[in-house]
Amino acid sequence: MADFTPDRVLFVFSQPYLSRRRERLLADGLCRLSPLPARCIRLEGTGVSLPQALDIAVAEGARAILVQPVGLPFSESLSSWLPGALAHWQASAPPELQLRLGNDLALAPTLLGTVAAEAIGDCAQARPIEGVRPSLGPRGWSDPGTAEEHLFVCTGQRCHFREAPRLRALLQDELRRAGLLERCQVTESSCLGPCNLGPLVARYPDGSWYRLESLADVKELVATVLVRRDAASRLRVHRMVRAISAAETAG
Ligand code: FES
Repeated sequence: MADFTPDRVLFVFSQPYLSRRRERLLADGLCRLSPLPARCIRLEGTGVSLPQALDIAVAEGARAILVQPVGLPFSESLSSWLPGALAHWQASAPPELQLRLGNDLALAPTLLGTVAAEAIGDCAQARPIEGVRPSLGPRGWSDPGTAEEHLFVCTGQRCHFREAPRLRALLQDELRRAGLLERCQVTESSCLGPCNLGPLVARYPDGSWYRLESLADVKELVATVLVRRDAASRLRVHRMVRAISAAETAG
């Protein structure tokens, strides 16, 4: 294997339920402690996607980039998908650029030892549970709301790689503009399955799935599918089988 001396590190992690604040703390900590110029990329949700971060690194002059998974443990499925996705990006990168995917550090004995030692060393600060009111969630979590339809915006890692990160915000803006926020509930979802069709939005109860690649697509979905109720838009890439037979029976 050719020598590899990285001049840039991209730390990548996947944490679907991480708050913005915790994300920033993790990113700041890793970048501050990194001996090389570094950036932290979350592989889902909102924010800079991995291809965008790679493009930025190249534009800033990076010539050898280490993409380092961070997670305890890092997802096995992402570990096996990332090499192909990185090769896909590299096919259009400058030919002299070196790119490597670091090992999963989850089983590194020194890291595990540090976690175990820190946990025990810090246990005096552990939060007591005595005195906490028993609860599985606030009262609002019992209310399903009054929406007529439900849009699931995939924010999974592979749709994120295809630059879907802003879909949820764009969709919500367009729904607000069209006065449809009450009627259409929008929920972020993890991977819906057919990632190659992404970035995906699934609409229920209609059972139609749409591919939205741009702001223009989002506007078109809202105008044609949600306002004019024309579900069979050119953006539709799939429809659930039961939804099709129900429509045929009704028709
Ligand atoms: S990540 Fe969106 S469908 Fe798999």
